Amino acid sequence: MDLNFKELSKVNENFYVTTPIYYVNDVPHIGHAYTTIIADTLTRYAKLQGKKTFFLTGTDEHGQKIEEAAQKRNRTPKEYANEISGSFRSLWDEFNISYGAFIRTTDEIHKTSVQKAFSTMLENGDIYKGEYEGHYCVSCETFFTETQLVDAEGCPECGKPTSIIKEESYFFKLSKFEKPLLKWIDENPKAILPKSRRNEVIRFIEQGLVDLSITRTSFSWGVGLPDHVNDPKHVVYVWLDALMNYITALGYAEDNKEKMDQFWPASYHLIGKDILRFHAIFWPAFLMSLELPLPDHIAAHGWWTRDGEKMSKSKGNVVFPREVSDAYGVENLRYFMLREVPFGQDGDFSQRAFIDRINSDLSNDLGNLLNRIIGMSAKYSEYEIDSVDVEKYHTKELDAMNIALDSLDGYMKEMQTHRYLEELWRLFFYWKHSDN
Ligand code: ME8
Ligand code: MG
Repeated sequence: MDLNFKELSKVNENFYVTTPIYYVNDVPHIGHAYTTIIADTLTRYAKLQGKKTFFLTGTDEHGQKIEEAAQKRNRTPKEYANEISGSFRSLWDEFNISYGAFIRTTDEIHKTSVQKAFSTMLENGDIYKGEYEGHYCVSCETFFTETQLVDAEGCPECGKPTSIIKEESYFFKLSKFEKPLLKWIDENPKAILPKSRRNEVIRFIEQGLVDLSITRTSFSWGVGLPDHVNDPKHVVYVWLDALMNYITALGYAEDNKEKMDQFWPASYHLIGKDILRFHAIFWPAFLMSLELPLPDHIAAHGWWTRDGEKMSKSKGNVVFPREVSDAYGVENLRYFMLREVPFGQDGDFSQRAFIDRINSDLSNDLGNLLNRIIGMSAKYSEYEIDSVDVEKYHTKELDAMNIALDSLDGYMKEMQTHRYLEELWRLFFYWKHSDN
């Protein structure tokens, strides 16, 4: 049966969506799958709208945390990274994730890209050399000020003890971008989604930005500075390195104007709320320094817990995506994640909620609709329905359907996938009750 639904809309745009590149110190869990599934959904939706799409995901492989994780297992960082990066990639393949490229920060081309960015920022006067002393959390790869620490030592993000690091460092003039950042956010009310996160970013910038230490000398697993800087003991800070992935993949290092022109700036950087500051403050500031346009949207979702508790390896309560899909199927998992939790809010993963959701929405609502259609088509037309007949005799229903679909587009643009699905499901009921 081939119904002539109106095309969703007549746009001829390019669409570029990214997920965070995931650290290779841990195997993929349900949180990683969530971000990736949303990105995949957006990509498929944009494709249906006739847009040219590019969907980027990958792995973040440098930094002290990875170096230490590899050491613990008596592996070289690269060997170790190969294995975990491979496990992310094969999971996404199994899950039918339609990524266009899978980037690794250990790719040679990425190194070139980071060095090119470093040189450009230096040339533009936004990098200077100084000395850094601060409280550093290895786990979060972030410096914190004294006032941010919990009980004088604990990391405010993850609670682990921080250590005092004093080292020579290159700095990025983040303070210079305070006003331009506020202006950008002000002029682009939808640049940071959802609104609550936008407000959080504004408040943070208004408290004042300090310059950012962007090199390290205390370990070596990272991208070295460009040769002309002639300072071999430094490696580039893992976040500057990592964020560049979004343009490496478009040929930034190769001066590939074509792909940059086509897909930059990104339509959506999808992230979890844990890495909002890096994406909504550091990244746009870096881009300004590089004289590149800023992304259309940075969209931060909430945090998944399991049965009300934070997931962690030590508690042994991590939900592994493959286990869920083996038990219930990947389509059910996708549906649950997109439907259960309003984008931006925290969500809880429990088997009970999962089963209830799938039973009520998919088995009952969707399943019954399908059954009814099959039953009626058997009864009235020996399993054959001609689309011409549908158009002729059911114009009212088709019109209602098209209007409804049009009106849902806004939900997708603002990441309200749960609302989109909720409204879509209303149409099923409309059908159920309107037939004669
Ligand atoms: O932060 N609930 O990598 P990462 C929801 N390499 N989402 C979750 C989650 C949870 N419990 N746990 C993880 C990094 N995520 C950096 C990113 S980007 C230039 C560099 C998802 O492996 C969510 O998308 O710690 C979060 O932002 C991301 O995994 C963090 O992955
Ligand atoms: Mg993390």
